[in-house]
Amino acid sequence: MNLAEGMDPFLRNIPKAELHIHIEGSLEPELMFELAARNNIKLPFASVDEVRRAYEFTDLQSFLDIYYKGACVLLHEQDFYDMTWAYLRRVYLQNVRHTEIFFDPQTHTDRGVAFETVITGIHRALVDAEQQLGMTSKLIMCFLRHLSAAAALETLRQALPFKHWIVAVGLDSSEHGHPPEKFVEVFDQARAAGFMTVAHAGEEGPPGYIWQALDLLKVSRIDHGVRCTEDQRLVERLVEEQIPLTVCPLSNVKLCVFESIESHNLKRLLDLGLCVTVNSDDPAYFGGYINENFLAALEGLNLSHDEICRLVKNSFQASFLSTNEKQKLVDELDSFVSQQIH
Ligand code: ADE
Ligand code: ZN
Repeated sequence: MNLAEGMDPFLRNIPKAELHIHIEGSLEPELMFELAARNNIKLPFASVDEVRRAYEFTDLQSFLDIYYKGACVLLHEQDFYDMTWAYLRRVYLQNVRHTEIFFDPQTHTDRGVAFETVITGIHRALVDAEQQLGMTSKLIMCFLRHLSAAAALETLRQALPFKHWIVAVGLDSSEHGHPPEKFVEVFDQARAAGFMTVAHAGEEGPPGYIWQALDLLKVSRIDHGVRCTEDQRLVERLVEEQIPLTVCPLSNVKLCVFESIESHNLKRLLDLGLCVTVNSDDPAYFGGYINENFLAALEGLNLSHDEICRLVKNSFQASFLSTNEKQKLVDELDSFVSQQIH
């Protein structure tokens, strides 16, 4: 089912950027089965329908357990290419102009897949998307926070020969019990090597993890960050410094961070003056790509077209594009909006 079919043309056609998407989380069950057959891998599911039925999560960990199993079908460069290309084509049709994509090298290197295999396949798809679809992109390498700090340092070492293909490092996986402070050294080294930094914080974890991400990891953006509202001083700082939050509404509902889309705090965050953006996180697992996330927010929270424009403009400004590139996207947005009125 494609929720966004027949959706509000304004939402469908407005140019967008996506800043929080795990490429492994874009692996649709159909492609998972295709790759399993191609690579002679037996999946613990009998059919595509059975996979989809298994996507009932109670929290972040219950999702991650299935997500890491799904990634086991990825072995060869072409597999990483096919997964990335499928995502890019799909969001191209949703009018995404620019995307900043996470990848989790440790999910693959721990299974014996070479770092080079992973990044070469993903990168080749990104180049094709720019040439064939005119979509720009950046790649963000995440460290798995449930693994050790030493393992993250080793991953950074493996990434250095491909530094020119990676704009930033990030931090994902199980948040509880794995605070940002665990990764100070690797983030210090990453910044010294020229990478920007981001981190998942305040998705399930406490506001203190957001403070740590800002003060210890020196992040440019917070991924999720929805629990910031539990700390008034933190909200004031995020507003004052206009630190972007990459919010993922459908993900938060699927992982029971919020009970329903209607009770999501996205609109409250916007009203507080925070630099909020809308993203899909793991679209194959959470019931929608970026347009379905916008649609859910629009309908569930009664957002106005003005608020949608603010969210989109925030994502352009919060991206790792150059000032000129950002301005081009903002100009395109302004011209789209003025065409709606006249
Ligand atoms: N990896 C993929 N999706 C994630 C999420 N929502 N939170 C943390 N790690 C993730
Ligand atoms: Zn995420």
